[in-house]
Amino acid sequence: MKRNGYSKYIKYWGLDKDIVFLNHGSFGACPKPVLKKQFSLRRKLESEPVRFFLREYEELYYQSKKALADLINCDYDDLVFVNNATTGVNTILKSYNFKEGDEILITNQIYPSCRNAVNFVAKKNSLFVNEVKINLPINDKSQVISLISSAITPRTKLALIDHISSIPGIVFPVKEITDILHSYNIDVLIDGAHTVGMVDLDIKSINPEFYTGNCHKWLCTPKGSAFLYVKKEYQDSIHPLVTSRYTNNDTVNKFQLEFSWQGTLDITSFLCIPKAIKFLSSLHKDGLKGLLGRNHKLAYTAGKMICDEFNIELPYPEDMTGTMYGIPFFEDKQINYYITNNRSKLQDILYYDFNIEVIVTYWEKPPNRILRIASQAYNTIEQYKYLINSLKKILKDKKYENII
Ligand SMILES: Cc1ncc(COP(=O)(O)O)c(C=O)c1O
Repeated sequence: MKRNGYSKYIKYWGLDKDIVFLNHGSFGACPKPVLKKQFSLRRKLESEPVRFFLREYEELYYQSKKALADLINCDYDDLVFVNNATTGVNTILKSYNFKEGDEILITNQIYPSCRNAVNFVAKKNSLFVNEVKINLPINDKSQVISLISSAITPRTKLALIDHISSIPGIVFPVKEITDILHSYNIDVLIDGAHTVGMVDLDIKSINPEFYTGNCHKWLCTPKGSAFLYVKKEYQDSIHPLVTSRYTNNDTVNKFQLEFSWQGTLDITSFLCIPKAIKFLSSLHKDGLKGLLGRNHKLAYTAGKMICDEFNIELPYPEDMTGTMYGIPFFEDKQINYYITNNRSKLQDILYYDFNIEVIVTYWEKPPNRILRIASQAYNTIEQYKYLINSLKKILKDKKYENII
């Protein structure tokens, strides 16, 4: 493998070339042309802050939201910016009108912060939490659909479903799930932290009450850029976590106004969305869709290659795969459970001894481990081969035998 095996597109990213970076999924990585755009916006802002916030910002904000609304197919007026998907999920859970005894339906693949937010509102409002276990392997989508539909109870009021789970990285059939939940009058909140820039997102077709997603992961904007979609009928009851100066303003578009100003912030990350879309689209002859297809193929091919090499049953099918693939990778002999980030000893060995940045975290509970790879434009198949060879060396080497 050439030095760390990156594709020609690595030139657009400032990633550390000494590391084989196979974890775009955790925090994304913002390319240089998009960072350049942010820098120029910041310079503009700081050259005359009052002009920027009071005279120029509104138009730029509009352009950014319009570009995003077009990409994810929803009305511009139903979309607001938030700083991250965690904020999006918290916003809905903390504004939603629950009654004592209502039930929130979630799955065991829920992201930990979202689980904590569910626990928080459940305790405060005396709600039930119904956690559906979706374990591996999954043979097809219908298995997930039927597990969720058979968990519905007469108390179920709101379901919080991942579009793409963090671990193991499954693409959920959210349209089918939403249709079923709606047939029982259950409202749907979708956590799409990974969706934009990983799969084609069409909010109108899914038709949830609430949808939140990040732009700073797979759309490669600077950090702190995410969105929240709220169906029109619900907009009066949803308020930002930070009460806005416009809260008492009795205008027609109160929802938009409230979210548009939550105190002085560096809002330049939102304003880079059009540039990020344009940049990613330029990397493939078939535009953004072409790039997503290429990244998807790479992730699934590499995931399958790892499973074949270590005789692991395929954990889920290709049509439930985006641009990440999570593989149950044996049990940890020496649990090294870091409370803050849940990484296993194997993750650190790969990083410190082989220069590979890849997630090896715990699935459900330690010692069950999941190795999750990710594929972005800068990755190549050679890098996953290097991962496989490194894993083989680790498994053979006496030095690691009590750990792995
Ligand atoms: C499914 C899911 N939800 C929510 C989040 C939180 O994203 P953020 O930290 O940008 O709020 C993540 C982060 O990886 C995630 O994977």
